[in-house]
Amino acid sequence: MIVEAFRKRYGTDENVRVFRAPGRVNLIGEHTDYNLGFVLPIALDLACFVATADSNDGYLHLFSEEKRQSRQWPATDISSLAPSHDWSDYVIGVAQELIRLGYLVEPKLLLIRSTVPEGSGLSSSAALEVSSALALLSDGDIDPLMLAKLCQRAEVGFVGTPCGIMDQYVSVFAREHAALEIDCRSLENAAVPLPDGIEILAVNSMVKHALGQSAYRERTEECATAVDAIRRLDTSVSSLRDVTVALLERAAASMPKVIARRARHVVMENERVNLFVKASRRGDLERMGQLMVESHVSLQHDYEVSSPELDFLVDTAIGVEGVLGARMTGGGFGGCTVNLLRRGMSGRFRSTISHAYRERFGVDPQIFTCRPSDGAGEVKNFERIPSGAALLG
Ligand code: GLA
Repeated sequence: MIVEAFRKRYGTDENVRVFRAPGRVNLIGEHTDYNLGFVLPIALDLACFVATADSNDGYLHLFSEEKRQSRQWPATDISSLAPSHDWSDYVIGVAQELIRLGYLVEPKLLLIRSTVPEGSGLSSSAALEVSSALALLSDGDIDPLMLAKLCQRAEVGFVGTPCGIMDQYVSVFAREHAALEIDCRSLENAAVPLPDGIEILAVNSMVKHALGQSAYRERTEECATAVDAIRRLDTSVSSLRDVTVALLERAAASMPKVIARRARHVVMENERVNLFVKASRRGDLERMGQLMVESHVSLQHDYEVSSPELDFLVDTAIGVEGVLGARMTGGGFGGCTVNLLRRGMSGRFRSTISHAYRERFGVDPQIFTCRPSDGAGEVKNFERIPSGAALLG
């Protein structure tokens, strides 16, 4: 029980409250969010839980179960802290954003328990940011969009990762049993119910995606270069979201080839999100699967953010009976693939993938069933909080 762990650590469990924020898997729409396009993630039942109560010594105390590390600072110092370049930056970054918005960050005790594997591309950082923000706020009311945006700002400004809004947004707004189509320009969303008869599985390549940070920044810059070139033909374009296939074809000749390929990925990927949503609404499972594979090929060759492990997992998956489609998910360079299966076909899938991956890379991949879960909030029923280990299976 998280409350017992809290009591052991801090010697009290008086008025302890627990906040949860989920990780996510993105079905389609990769590297489109910072280009103000479309994404279609689902929130997972893998989540970060933060138990909290007031502290009476004037300090903000943090304890991460996963890292077995604690940190503390006088609450009055929080607004002037510099990054420590570790997990606590996600919490402090969020605390500073709250202070900037006029919220009081009071002395508190926080115990952090996460079942989202770190570095797996399932958005463990957004889950930590959102759950910490809720815990630090405790009684404060906050507009959900403001919450998602402040968590993204914390990651970009304090942690230093130039990410888009998808991960924080879906962690806040997700709904059970549905995927969430997010328009990353208007920041509106629509729940997309998924057809019956499917299962979604994530496979963790066990390669941490940390090395992707510099490449991620490079991709954002390449997209900006593409926009500059396209604007010479059409000044109404302010992001790749505004670019049609026809316009890109006209502009491509004036760009370095690699920039044109990056732009083509984004333009086509936005299109694929819309086609996927339509296919899902009419229950066209084959088309959904095909679009996922097209997305992977584009990430592999045009956007160049895949890896040999991810390519191997996708290639192996699409040869397994009952698999409709597969692709890398998240930023890339490691982390997970997402796989769309016909319901009831996951047994063979699990054994084939595990065996083949172990043979090829000598590592056991983790395989998760992804059940679209609810967005962040307070957990009233403590029995539902996992005991600590990752929720596999
Ligand atoms: C990471 C970022 C997201 C998004 C994806 C790629 O997960 O945090 O904002 O850009 O990569 O789609």
